[in-house]
Amino acid sequence: MSVLVTGGTGFIGSHTVVELLEAGYDVVVFDNFYNSKPCVLDRIKQITGKSVKFYEADMCDASAMKKIFAENEIDAVIHFAGLKAVGESVEKPLAYYKNNIGGTVVLCEEMAAAGVKRMVFSSSATVYGDPETVPMREDFPTSATNPYGETKLVIERILADVCVSDPEWSVSCLRYFNPIGAHKSGLIGEDPMGIPNNIMPRIQKVAAGEWDAITIFGNDYDTPDGTGVRDYIHVTDLAQAHIAALKRVYTVKGWECFNIGCGRGYSVLELIDAYSRASGKEIPKVIMPRRPGDIAVSYADPTKAKEVLGWEAKLTLDDMCRDAYNFLLKNPHGYED
Ligand code: UD1
Repeated sequence: MSVLVTGGTGFIGSHTVVELLEAGYDVVVFDNFYNSKPCVLDRIKQITGKSVKFYEADMCDASAMKKIFAENEIDAVIHFAGLKAVGESVEKPLAYYKNNIGGTVVLCEEMAAAGVKRMVFSSSATVYGDPETVPMREDFPTSATNPYGETKLVIERILADVCVSDPEWSVSCLRYFNPIGAHKSGLIGEDPMGIPNNIMPRIQKVAAGEWDAITIFGNDYDTPDGTGVRDYIHVTDLAQAHIAALKRVYTVKGWECFNIGCGRGYSVLELIDAYSRASGKEIPKVIMPRRPGDIAVSYADPTKAKEVLGWEAKLTLDDMCRDAYNFLLKNPHGYED
């Protein structure tokens, strides 16, 4: 019996595959390498001493999905595959709707055809839009401010509808806050293609000497130091949340969602300070106007995940910065094949 990980060579997928292998699961992975590299598979083997069965495949390709389910005894799916850049989603909405939503529908059809009805889905705190209060709870209203967020919201609803239509299905949607950091080995981490959008890969560009300074998008928010506040979570803690959710979908049927965050917020300035301490490098800063679409404060109420999944984040902001910097030191030019 195997767990199929879609998008398993990406940032969060690869860390989850490591945790799955270390917990003793057999793992099958597919990825189309749109935003990841084949060498990640070797790195996973170096860390765990174990191999995964890998397919280079796209979830929009029904025959490829059919083949994977025919050739393996899959009994649950952890679904990461998807496009994830907010700005790009505004420019190319159809690509986002086709790939993320269309691909998930194909995946679910092939799961149903193969009798596989357990899924852990990679959702996002972006489904809360701009909440009226923090911390954010799972029962808050949901909304989307861009096509990327819309795809997460629609996929959550599709999965909820599937669970209503067939009570044999069980789905856990994990609403991630802001994953950063890297595996403690420094062998896998975050290496986005092109110009990164998220803050940690951008700080790493400055630490690597590729960029002169980090731009701070706004210091006039209603926050203690004026910069945006986020709930940063170590990617290894996040990966472990998937193991807890996987156990849940084996035991409870129906649709559920969980916030996956630490439950406290740090400002952009606090994050940069922590990174400077961890790396011993000064990170020059430039204040810029607010980035359109950004919210002031976002942090989770992670109580439900603790009570229901028995999961909570353990690693600190300093751990996240130390491990991100270690990944940079070991991979100064990112993954190189
Ligand atoms: C972003 C997406 C969100 C997505 C998440 C997934 C936007 C508007 N939101 O969240 O939908 O689910 O990534 O990874 O893109 N910042 C700077 N300077 C930078 C980069 C960021 O000051 O160079 C600030 C931002 O204003 C924010 C914080 O750092 O306050 C975190 O930004 P980021 O890492 O991009 O994450 P989110 O905006 O929270």
